[in-house]
Amino acid sequence: MSNRMWGGRFGSGPDAIMEEINASIDFDKRLHAHDIAGSIAHATMLGEVGILTRDDKDAIIAGLEAVRGEIDRGEFTFSRELEDIHMNVESRLREMIGDAAGRLHTARSRNDQVATDFRLYVRDCVDTLAGQIETLQKVLVARAGDEAGTVMPGFTHLQSAQPVTFGHHMLAYVEMLERDKGRLLDARRRLNLSPLGSAALAGTSFPIDREMTARALGFDGPTANSLDAVSDRDFVLEVLSAASISAMHLSRFSEELVIWSSAQFGFVALSDKFSTGSSIMPQKRNPDAAELIRAKIGRIFGAFTSLLMVMKGLPLAYSKDMQEDKEVAFDALDTFSLCLAAMTGMVGDLVVNREKMAAAAGAGFSTATDLADWLVRAANVPFREAHHITGRAVSAAEAKGCGLEGLTIEDFKAIDERITSQVFKVLGVDNSVKSRTSFGGTSPANVLAQVSAWRERLGA
Ligand code: ARG
Repeated sequence: MSNRMWGGRFGSGPDAIMEEINASIDFDKRLHAHDIAGSIAHATMLGEVGILTRDDKDAIIAGLEAVRGEIDRGEFTFSRELEDIHMNVESRLREMIGDAAGRLHTARSRNDQVATDFRLYVRDCVDTLAGQIETLQKVLVARAGDEAGTVMPGFTHLQSAQPVTFGHHMLAYVEMLERDKGRLLDARRRLNLSPLGSAALAGTSFPIDREMTARALGFDGPTANSLDAVSDRDFVLEVLSAASISAMHLSRFSEELVIWSSAQFGFVALSDKFSTGSSIMPQKRNPDAAELIRAKIGRIFGAFTSLLMVMKGLPLAYSKDMQEDKEVAFDALDTFSLCLAAMTGMVGDLVVNREKMAAAAGAGFSTATDLADWLVRAANVPFREAHHITGRAVSAAEAKGCGLEGLTIEDFKAIDERITSQVFKVLGVDNSVKSRTSFGGTSPANVLAQVSAWRERLGA
């Protein structure tokens, strides 16, 4: 018995366990559209340069389109025996059009084929993900516009630090997401070269036109070194690295939503659509989507690390290890997409509790820096000294059981003669945020200006 795929050199088929460890069709069937697009580009070029006769080329292309139709309609039977998507497609093509199918693989190998398919797949993912990031940005900008003047506590060390606006906080994530999108699109630029025609590792003796196949597949041109082209997976690593950084942002935001939606904070309420209940505690509303984003993000970091591990010991050029690039990347990119969608949904309909936020914003002597700044501005006190005076005012308020604005002018005079009743103008949280007008600061006016700049930039 000769082997169904390798023919003459093999006397028998593989052991069942060999098939199980070796076959990638169960997951790489996802590449079917890209695989067929790559094959059509290759066959067209082979015809164009005269390596294939016109009849063979036409038969191959029509056959590939028919295979695509079968897969799209769910009529295609994927076979493990045929290992991967490349062999599954070629084998069905042979059943459909006969021997001409065997000419499709002239001047290429599965090594350049899979590198091409995967680049095309990852490129599509980048385009979708960049679009999803932009959708989330638009939702955040809209929320920021509504909440430009909504005061909330700003934290450092998760201790109340200074009041900020909720709009400003939303725009912080818009900035992060802009960098995330930039990293993905930057990776896309480097990714967009075609490995097709690099063949197994050394190129080919056939007079192929790699520019032609590259153009047909929307690449900027062909890769310049055949060894590099078949052994490179940087394009996936770069995208997983960019996705990891972005996912880290989503996770931090999720953590904030979990904290903010707790009864103790009560800053926001997640909508019914993005909360769950408890099977035993009727009062509960749990922020499961935020928790799951926070947790699922780990898969993305894991995929990045896992692929680095796969690649780090491989001599040039292709090794079968590289087949392990796909499952983790598919899972990570699906997960990232799902997390972006869930975050967009949650942010779009969360309800902001302005009163709760304002009350919390004033707690913890959050306007102490405003008092110190006022001393510098109005009484010409050096900042370091103003810091000490303010410290005494905080102790006095603490002893009296009130906020800084609860101290009387006499209380203040007892601390420092130079304090006048004008100081009360800066002690409220609203005044505090209004005064933060330095570029990039939290003032409502700044937030509104940033919101309109973002609207313009994002076309929202
Ligand atoms: N299924 C393989 C992969 O995903 C395709 C390339 C196989 N090449 C080879 N020489 N065995 O990497």
